[in-house]
Amino acid sequence: MSQLSSRLAYIDVQDRNPLTLFKEWHNEVISAKCFFFQTNVMCLATSTKNGKISNRNVVVKQYDENGFVFVTDGRSRKSEEIEENPWVAATFLWNYKKDETEYLKQVRMEGKIQKISQDRCLKLFNQEKLYCKIRSHLCHQDQQVDWEVLKSKHDKLLDDVLNNKRKLTMPDHYVGYEIIPERYDFYSAGGNYIADRVVFTKEQSGWNFVHVAA
Ligand SMILES: Cc1cc2nc3c(=O)[nH]c(=O)nc-3n(C[C@H](O)[C@H](O)[C@H](O)COP(=O)(O)O)c2cc1C
Repeated sequence: MSQLSSRLAYIDVQDRNPLTLFKEWHNEVISAKCFFFQTNVMCLATSTKNGKISNRNVVVKQYDENGFVFVTDGRSRKSEEIEENPWVAATFLWNYKKDETEYLKQVRMEGKIQKISQDRCLKLFNQEKLYCKIRSHLCHQDQQVDWEVLKSKHDKLLDDVLNNKRKLTMPDHYVGYEIIPERYDFYSAGGNYIADRVVFTKEQSGWNFVHVAA
């Protein structure tokens, strides 16, 4: 897909039972023999102040000594939960082959999360592909939608943008968060190896690490 295109996906639900859709998707993955390989995706867990947990995948846009950054809709469920409770956990999963050896790696992290500055957010927004910018204007994340209405709004917006009738500036609800890890857990396995794990914890004096059983 070109950088300048944008379309809406549609999930065709044939049964009220969610397990039917789960099996359909699961079977398709099995028959496609594909494997998950999203290098920058982490599964992020947040919780309400009462300890009700939810998780979802997000794309890590940047990371450095300080933390791991992703962007989202400030009106979403995750953002509400982050406002209630800044403690989060995230997991990366990587399964790949290198020099004929299979590797299975997991990195878990736990820490506090904080919003990034508007300036930093704007830089990330400007780097987004067209369909992501359109989504940020079109979609109020987590709100119920009428697909046909959304589609016609989308097509109109895309048309306006492509004909220079409208500029896609960064909306106020486009927000970025940075996880500041206080604990990491690295897991490494693959082939017939029993996994090893290394846990890093942040102390006053700096990072400490120990091996732990898999
Ligand atoms: C591979 C993948 C990457 C995703 N990346 C993001 C992301 O960077 N930001 C985001 O808001 N949602 C992202 N999503 C959608 C979220 O998983 C989730 O559906 C959405 O953010 C709503 O989550 P919430 O209801 O917990 O707030 C991604 C989904 C997938 C499958």
